[in-house]
Amino acid sequence: MRSLFLGLATLAPCFIPAAIAEPVPRNVIRSPSQLRPNYDFIILGGGTSGLTVADRLSEAFPAKTVLVVEYGDIEYAPGSFDPPVNWQQSGASVNRWAFNSLPNPAMNNKTAFVAQGQVVGGSSAANGQFFDRGSRHDYDAWAEVGGDEFRKWNWNGIYPFFKKSVTFHEPPPSLVKQHGYTWDIAAYGGTTPIHSSFPPFQWADTWVLRDVWQEMGIKIAKECAGGNKQGICWVPTSQQPVTARRSHSGLGHYADVIASRSNYDLLVRHQAIRVVYPKGLKSGPPIAQVRPVPSSFSSDLFNLTAKAEIIISAGAFHTPTILQRSGIGPAHFLRSAGIPVLLDLPGVGSNLQDHTGGGIRWNYTKPYSSFPIPSDLANNATFKADSIAGFNETPARGPYTLALGNEAIYVSLPRMTSKSTLSSLLHRIHQQATSVPSTAAILPPGPDYGSNPSMLAGYKSQLLTLATQFAKPDSPTMETPFATSSDGSRLAFLLHPLSRGTVQINLTNPLSQPIIDYRHGSNPLDFDLHISHIRYLRQVFDTPTFKKYGAVETGPGKEVADSDALLKEYIKQEIILSFQHPCCTAAMLPKHKGGVVGPDLKVHGTRGLRVVDISVMPLIVGSHTSATAYAIGEKAADLIIREWKGR
Ligand SMILES: Cc1cc2nc3c(=O)[nH]c(=O)nc-3n(C[C@H](O)[C@H](O)[C@H](O)COP(=O)(O)OP(=O)(O)OC[C@H]3O[C@@H](n4cnc5c(N)ncnc54)[C@H](O)[C@@H]3O)c2cc1C
Ligand SMILES: *[C@@H]1O[C@H](CO)[C@@H](O)[C@H](O)[C@H]1NC(C)=O
Ligand SMILES: *[C@@H]1O[C@H](CO)[C@@H](O)[C@H](O)[C@H]1NC(C)=O
Ligand SMILES: *[C@@H]1O[C@H](CO)[C@@H](O)[C@H](O)[C@H]1NC(C)=O
Ligand SMILES: *[C@@H]1O[C@H](CO)[C@@H](O)[C@H](O)[C@H]1NC(C)=O
Ligand SMILES: *[C@@H]1O[C@H](CO)[C@@H](O)[C@H](O)[C@H]1NC(C)=O
Repeated sequence: MRSLFLGLATLAPCFIPAAIAEPVPRNVIRSPSQLRPNYDFIILGGGTSGLTVADRLSEAFPAKTVLVVEYGDIEYAPGSFDPPVNWQQSGASVNRWAFNSLPNPAMNNKTAFVAQGQVVGGSSAANGQFFDRGSRHDYDAWAEVGGDEFRKWNWNGIYPFFKKSVTFHEPPPSLVKQHGYTWDIAAYGGTTPIHSSFPPFQWADTWVLRDVWQEMGIKIAKECAGGNKQGICWVPTSQQPVTARRSHSGLGHYADVIASRSNYDLLVRHQAIRVVYPKGLKSGPPIAQVRPVPSSFSSDLFNLTAKAEIIISAGAFHTPTILQRSGIGPAHFLRSAGIPVLLDLPGVGSNLQDHTGGGIRWNYTKPYSSFPIPSDLANNATFKADSIAGFNETPARGPYTLALGNEAIYVSLPRMTSKSTLSSLLHRIHQQATSVPSTAAILPPGPDYGSNPSMLAGYKSQLLTLATQFAKPDSPTMETPFATSSDGSRLAFLLHPLSRGTVQINLTNPLSQPIIDYRHGSNPLDFDLHISHIRYLRQVFDTPTFKKYGAVETGPGKEVADSDALLKEYIKQEIILSFQHPCCTAAMLPKHKGGVVGPDLKVHGTRGLRVVDISVMPLIVGSHTSATAYAIGEKAADLIIREWKGR
């Protein structure tokens, strides 16, 4: 059977373009001997959120020093991030980790493939450049599940920081005319050197699915980044207009600003191991212990002293490992790892979420000819050569400027399912939230999670909040990205999963890479959501446009789709287990709800220690996660600056 889903990782690199000079900043630090004796702020992890904070703090406090410690290297060689070279790769590469999760028992024991940026710029330098924001309901849910104290993180609280976080470039009239791009400039307004723009290219048949969606009654949205996200959305791409080069935090929050900052240092190729409180938790900030990469000796560890704060920004997989190695985490688990418990915080490494996708596929049986479509890159050498040349021209042109596409539909449950299906689902979510045994059975077993009262309380709040959200006709639960229809398959991503997993240090080697246990499908209601989404998407086969092309369904097929049991098996078989959006493993929630950080992103019960990255999301947002990572960085920086300005 042909591979069902064209994921994020299908094509191998095959061409190295001639070198294009890019400035490589000279002041990168590689050895501890080049460091200052101490720093005011030390940020562990130079990724999407971390560099945003570093940039803002070093800008706001010229007399204070900022150090970023980054595991990866600085890497601006041409093509390292951009198509067509180091793009859509599977596996690890110079700028990223590639992980396989533990088997997912509810998904035929399949493992998820999931990558993470390992470079200055973090995952913003390694991602698919799809740059959307969640719906206002996603952020309002953060505030709701957290309670009153967390209100500043609702949509109205975070929206100004979305605006601040990016410079959006309006497309020229010629592109608007050609592709029908729409946007609302009111959703933007930033001037920071993080760029987004609409690509100059669309596949010739992109309109096929646009027509199909409209025939299904889905409306074209003018703008989806302003809080109201539903319908057919154009999404900006994380790239410079004109050159179409990737925009990422390693450029916009480091290389582009460093010339004017004598107080901003970057230590690369060093791994943050843990934080240490020599005089106890109440006398922070802690010391950060770091070692060079590669290193296999714990004797290589050295101490970094912060005068003001340590900020952990190592991403959803690594932030919890730094905390756990510090003795901050689930006490029972830490003891089993032989780590002295400094602070019992069961939420550290719990609450893992990601988007998963099931979908539909079809074959066209009537002539379907359009040029160019993605298969032409594989089949037409002239077209491929011209596409590569076009990407390196200024202005750039051709398919590589599109990355993986910049359109998607977002649909809510009330618009997809019958009233009775919806109310039965909501009823069962409420039942889970009010019945301790069934809730505990969903959560990972053990005293640190499934039977821990604070973790249970937090999960119940999440369920109730999500049930409220699912009932809203303008709060999407499904995303289907598209750029063309020629590949004959489309995914339905579950934007708000109910299953929860964990990230933990490896007990055999706590300094090595984390163990990722998604437990997708452990809440059986996630299958109900997937089923609703797939049944809805199958309506494409009734549209005049698909009939015109003789689109024949090859998956799941009517017989399978009509049976809950068969459709569930189909989903288990075909599901994509990570949309590359792991998050939520150091959740911003009250401690009595299993939270790790409070509304100021300070780790509960500590001094001088914050987490700023997408680990702090209590609930995954209904969008790709980089735009929110930048916004979290901007809002965190604002909170930190206010606090230190006031001292
Ligand atoms: C392959 C892929 C495709 C994606 N596609 C999209 C997309 O199209 N659109 C979108 O919006 N989002 C996408 N995402 C997700 C998005 O890019 C991330 O969610 C977001 O960038 C995460 O930001 P962060 O600041 O939390 O972590 P990151 O940006 O990952 O930063 C963490 C940094 O910490 C460093 N680090 C880790 N451990 C240590 C340590 N112990 N010591 C020192 N440094 C450490 C890492 O090297 C990294 O630089 C994708 C992600 C991947 C991996
Ligand atoms: C998954 O693996 C476990 C442990 O090896 C096994 O007990 C179980 O039967 C497997 N499940 C499936 C569906 O293969
Ligand atoms: C780092 O600090 C800790 C705590 O004060 C101390 O025990 C350790 O010896 C220090 N390590 C080095 C290399 O100075
Ligand atoms: C659909 O197309 C694929 C690839 O061209 C082919 O292998 C498969 O047999 C086709 N299926 C049907 C039902 O026509
Ligand atoms: C192959 O690509 C070239 C260049 O874009 C184009 O002119 C030509 O028509 C294509 N050939 C086919 C068979 O589509
Ligand atoms: C844990 O680390 C050990 C030693 O490095 C390794 O062999 C093992 O595969 C790791 N476990 C997992 C689940 O990754």
